[in-house]
Amino acid sequence: MKLKTFIVFVLFTFHAPVFAAAADPVWGRDGMIVTSVSPAAPVGQAILEKGGNAVDAAIAASFAASVAHPFSSGLGGGMFAVVHDADSGQTTSLDARETAPRSADPEFYRDNPDTIRKGKHSVGVPGLVQGLWDLHQRYGSMPWPELIEPAIELAENGVPVSTWHHRIVSAVAPVLVDFPETRRIQTVDGIAPPLGWILKQQDLAGTLRLIQEKGGKALAVGPIAKKIEEATDGVVTELDLARYEAKWREPVKGSYRGYEIIAMPPPSSGGVLLVEMLNVLQRYDLAAMGRGSGDLIHLVGSTMKLAFADRARHLGDPDYHDVPIETLTSMEYADQLAARLNPEGQPQVVESLITPPDDSGTTQITVLDRHGNAVSLTQTINTLFGSKITVPGTGVVLNNELDDFSIDKTTPNLWDAVGTDANAIEPGKRPLSSMTPLVVLKDGRAVMGLGSPMGTLIISTVLQALINTIDFDLDPQSAVMAPRFHHQWQPDTLYLEPEFAPEVRAYLESLGHTLGDRSMIGAAQLAIYDSETCYFWGAPDGRRDSGAAGANIGPVEAVTLEQRCQVLDQSRAAEIPR
Ligand code: DON
Repeated sequence: MKLKTFIVFVLFTFHAPVFAAAADPVWGRDGMIVTSVSPAAPVGQAILEKGGNAVDAAIAASFAASVAHPFSSGLGGGMFAVVHDADSGQTTSLDARETAPRSADPEFYRDNPDTIRKGKHSVGVPGLVQGLWDLHQRYGSMPWPELIEPAIELAENGVPVSTWHHRIVSAVAPVLVDFPETRRIQTVDGIAPPLGWILKQQDLAGTLRLIQEKGGKALAVGPIAKKIEEATDGVVTELDLARYEAKWREPVKGSYRGYEIIAMPPPSSGGVLLVEMLNVLQRYDLAAMGRGSGDLIHLVGSTMKLAFADRARHLGDPDYHDVPIETLTSMEYADQLAARLNPEGQPQVVESLITPPDDSGTTQITVLDRHGNAVSLTQTINTLFGSKITVPGTGVVLNNELDDFSIDKTTPNLWDAVGTDANAIEPGKRPLSSMTPLVVLKDGRAVMGLGSPMGTLIISTVLQALINTIDFDLDPQSAVMAPRFHHQWQPDTLYLEPEFAPEVRAYLESLGHTLGDRSMIGAAQLAIYDSETCYFWGAPDGRRDSGAAGANIGPVEAVTLEQRCQVLDQSRAAEIPR
């Protein structure tokens, strides 16, 4: 269904604010939050309805997410955020990615590659709390303590265990036998808590209270820092923690069919790859090729393959390695890539049969507010429960982000990504990420916020949700739910979700693709501002326990679509009635 037809249908079907992770997009008059952690959606919604801006809502939702899905988010992890500030018209990005501690020795990891995946040697110096604090310092409008209160309530009163939560903890529970503090808090005697069980995290509530009082350095200096050093046997020290800094960075920018793309720069690979791929794809009429068609999948999959080969070669922490961002995102380079595509076969072949894991150590939070601000924030502890270490007495789960480094040229990480010196381990350096928080502008206004969890699959997920919206004009929920595919150069496999038809698979095989199955690819969280109706639309991805919640301040007026923008503009300009 076309977006406009769909919107008319929905507007005359719903009469009240809606909160759901259902087949229809959620709507909101005064803002929208969409996130892969459903209990965090109403938290962001409440902040927007109290008059908080998109940054306030994203911060509150981030803290709430760390409590509600402790396996996919956490104070012991890191994050990226892309922000559009409507007042100044500026966009920026914040890098609160973990860093390698001073003790990180590349040789040690070459000799002991398994230690980088879990346990104390997998832990990077966390950046999340400092990052949220820095976001608040620059853009926040509500008092910091108020943004943390909902998370404290969730930790103290408990969160009911959902189906997704139960499935995740069931999968990881056997590994937790070696991690007693995580096992104590997150399982019931080593077994995943049953559905509806109320998970209370009192230690985490105490840590959140300290953050409420002390701000950004609460984990980095003082008793918690000491406990982190003890829990990692000195691998991450108090000095590492005290020295950590989040960094504001100039976003990667591109344009696609009249939209302005604002994406995360290195140490994320997401923004560069996304713009690189969009530069190639905009020379084709994708809509004419047909969504889900073999030709489309071949073209986009081959483009992904070329872009991911560049990821392995060129991308890493820009403070340690010269990343050719301008070249990779230039139209001249896109010309070269397009020339290497082959409509009848492969652009490049590399043999490998390893399958990337399904995982979920990452959380996406997308917020648009009534002022025109936008935040897309992706936070991660990397894989489920990160390093698996919970710092005793704090409830803080430590990340295993060091696995995002390349130990050497041939050893793939958990996402099967390979890399070169660009992403080699060095003390203080940030591991390369695939997280792709994204804001899209049209005529200077933020019209879309988007992002996803799921490692390297994030980049392909964001690309497809974007194409589905812009090229195929799908309504937001359909754009997010449509079946997806993924290619990351190595392994040389085109991964497909189950819904693709046998004829399409056979056609792709005839073009030389080795096909692989993935039960799910990413979990896109898309928020849209529709300038024709002046409404916000939220599309949570049903592949995970996602949720969206629209903000509605005051009564929703009974007016026609034509009158609506005018009425809404007036009422938004007026004082907020609470
Ligand atoms: O930064 C990265 O690219 C990875 N640490 C993200 C891992 C991830 O998305 C896990 N799951 N959902």
